[in-house]
Amino acid sequence: YTMNGAVTFEHVTFQYPDTAAAVLHDISFETKPGTTVAIMGATGAGKTSLVGLIPRLYEQNAGVIKIDGTDISTLNTEYLRDSIGYVPQEIILFTGTIRENIAWGKEDATLDEIIEAAKLAQIHDTIIQFPLGYDTILGQKGVNLSGGQKQRLTIARALVRKPCILLLDDSTSALDVRTEASLLQALRNISCTTFLITQKISSTLHADLILLLEDGSLLAQGSHEELIADCALYQRIYES
Ligand code: CTP
Ligand code: MG
Repeated sequence: YTMNGAVTFEHVTFQYPDTAAAVLHDISFETKPGTTVAIMGATGAGKTSLVGLIPRLYEQNAGVIKIDGTDISTLNTEYLRDSIGYVPQEIILFTGTIRENIAWGKEDATLDEIIEAAKLAQIHDTIIQFPLGYDTILGQKGVNLSGGQKQRLTIARALVRKPCILLLDDSTSALDVRTEASLLQALRNISCTTFLITQKISSTLHADLILLLEDGSLLAQGSHEELIADCALYQRIYES
């Protein structure tokens, strides 16, 4: 079966094995399939840790995480990681062609699949402007991409695997508002549940659900309108 991508956290608490204190405390929320979830919070608030629990990069100490109603601890991790695209905070590109960089980890991807992923990631138009297109070499002897282009290339790399859930860890920080909105709309169109870690209010405006973390706790959750009405910290972020 394929996932619909409804993610539920029920009273999740998490602590890294080598640390004294929990970094996530009693986190509960529920997403609907194909929606956009924005995760906000100051540095160290626990954003990266929270999304890392979804593909089981770490195991929570308490509470339950479910996808489509199934406890993820009962799911095969290979299947789980195949269905979840993860774009880490640190971008890794290697010397090689754009095509190879997008297909990294899925070397059997066809050019059509690579182009489709690049279109969804809003980077296809940039790629075809290079004389060698998808065969353009990146790195010291080739083309150097801008920060936002690198981010979109790594998003394309995750999308070539056709994930049902996509985790974007600060992966749109260098994108302009319009490009980011186009990306989020494209992900909605393919019904990919998207977790977007962000510091930008422009990214949260169109999110179906915003999770605001503070020191590992979920300070507030809801839509932009709900948080503007109810949450003093969110109001302050919005006005700053
Ligand atoms: N932490 C840890 N061991 C790790 C990773 C993180 O103990 N291997 C701790 C950090 O020191 C921090 C907390 O876990 O106190 C939350 O870290 P993280 O989830 O990475 O925070 P983010 O909200 O992602 O911070 P940033 O915006 O800086 O990426
Ligand atoms: Mg982080």
